Amino acid sequence: MLQVNVTRKADEAEGICSFELCAADGSALPAFEAGAHIDIHIAEGLTRQYSLCNDPKERHRYLISVLKDPSSRGGSKAMHEQIRSGQTLTISTPRNLFPLDRSANRHLLFGGGIGITPMLAMAYELSHQRADFELHYCFRSSERAAFVAMLAHTPFAGRIKFHDDSGAQRQKLDASALLATPDASTHLYVCGPAGFMNYILNAAQNAGWSQSQVHKEFFAAAPIDESANAPFEVELASTGQVFQIPAERTVFEVLDEACIAIESSCEQGICGTCVTRVLKGIPEHRDKFLTESEQAANDRFTPCCSRAKSSRLVLDL
Ligand code: FES
Repeated sequence: MLQVNVTRKADEAEGICSFELCAADGSALPAFEAGAHIDIHIAEGLTRQYSLCNDPKERHRYLISVLKDPSSRGGSKAMHEQIRSGQTLTISTPRNLFPLDRSANRHLLFGGGIGITPMLAMAYELSHQRADFELHYCFRSSERAAFVAMLAHTPFAGRIKFHDDSGAQRQKLDASALLATPDASTHLYVCGPAGFMNYILNAAQNAGWSQSQVHKEFFAAAPIDESANAPFEVELASTGQVFQIPAERTVFEVLDEACIAIESSCEQGICGTCVTRVLKGIPEHRDKFLTESEQAANDRFTPCCSRAKSSRLVLDL
């Protein structure tokens, strides 16, 4: 955990604020890689993850950007309405679950709306490496597009393509055309709202891009229909203890209450922090983190949201 001061809070676009965070004791902050995020403890019981969007070479600050989401579960609303410049916050050190693949020769970055944030850090890093890349920034309208003016002054300005949904047809992103020919040495990175993610991911899949070349970060899981949830059991392989998981509770909640520590972060199946090995039984995967083939292997699952198809799961805990 780190104590940081909010040294600047700024309106970047309609509904989007950025927050500059510097160490409260004035020291250098821990280094981060492009794609990393931090957990921000906004209030008691309210922790949210935000991607770092500044140049990873900077050690004097972290920059995050937050969209006020009308369907907010509390996090983005509190960030906008309660967090002020000059305030001290507790944050985690950066963690990277969305890294660049350094084996690729070319990188195509796709940021939709606030999904531009991890792409900015990636573009800085790739630009320092003199790597071959393109950044596609899609937004609903210019009023809702953060950082456009700033981007014109970056060293990678010439590699950015802006796609305004409310603008002329010719500048809109045609993902099927752009991704029509898969190239084994190119990797794709996608972040944004669900509709945008699906648009890019479907175009890549239909064109035959391999899953291993496509990297994605979701903001929020789609709502899950919990009405058909059934109870099941989990057994801890190390002790043989068995826990009943009722229909209305998650494995994570039940084990956490019993002081069985599993690291967690998003608690919605998108970050992968809680991934746990399954030694026996068939999970019912509900996460957005594991790939289809990883889910099909049934040897890992996300206890924060996934359940079981079999009556018992034996976990490597
Ligand atoms: Fe994020 Fe489970 S805590 S996937």
